[in-house]
Amino acid sequence: MRSKISAISHFLGDETEFGQKLRKGFRASAVSVSLLTTKDSAGGYQGTAVTATAPVSMSLPSLMVALNHTAATHSAVQASSLYCLNHIAGTDLDLLDRFCRSGTRAGQFSDEGWCCGLHDLPYLETATSSFFCRVIGSHDYGDHTVFVGRIEGVRLSDPTNEGDFDPVIWVNGAARRLTERQYP
Ligand SMILES: Cc1cc2nc3c(=O)[nH]c(=O)nc-3n(C[C@H](O)[C@H](O)[C@H](O)COP(=O)(O)O)c2cc1C
Repeated sequence: MRSKISAISHFLGDETEFGQKLRKGFRASAVSVSLLTTKDSAGGYQGTAVTATAPVSMSLPSLMVALNHTAATHSAVQASSLYCLNHIAGTDLDLLDRFCRSGTRAGQFSDEGWCCGLHDLPYLETATSSFFCRVIGSHDYGDHTVFVGRIEGVRLSDPTNEGDFDPVIWVNGAARRLTERQYP
């Protein structure tokens, strides 16, 4: 095996080259993009787009999400210990835009597709799946907190679907559909 160590950028505090490669590396990977919803201490709804999420275990059912300390959803999840992860379908691409930036927060939940679910958490009726979670642990690292949530409820938009899903992924800095599913 040839040594190619010179091609690797190291994290040494000087972020320039390392940071550029890091961003490109992340852009090049295809990840699931979802809408995370929660409630703040006043009972108001909060939501944000997330890619830093993954199932943890099936037994006991759990999933994790990493939230930036500066995001409004971070303090809301910390306060309520509750969140709902909505895996959106291709038909909800327009909605995604409203959950990506602070400035577009007004009207996030004005769409008719939002419903009130377990623990009064908002879920999207058209989401392929919605997971209702209670935080059972968290870990701070850098500017993010990883919240591990016990899945207390799951809701499918089409429980009869045996594999014809239309998931949305994030790759090359944009949302993409993997199928060209035709909707009636
Ligand atoms: C594709 C995409 C994925 C994102 N994933 C995450 C994530 O996993 N965790 C996170 O904290 N922010 C993530 N963000 C950023 C937040 O969606 C956005 O900055 C946040 O809603 C702004 O929150 P604020 O208004 O509460 O500050 C992502 C943004 C985009 C466009």
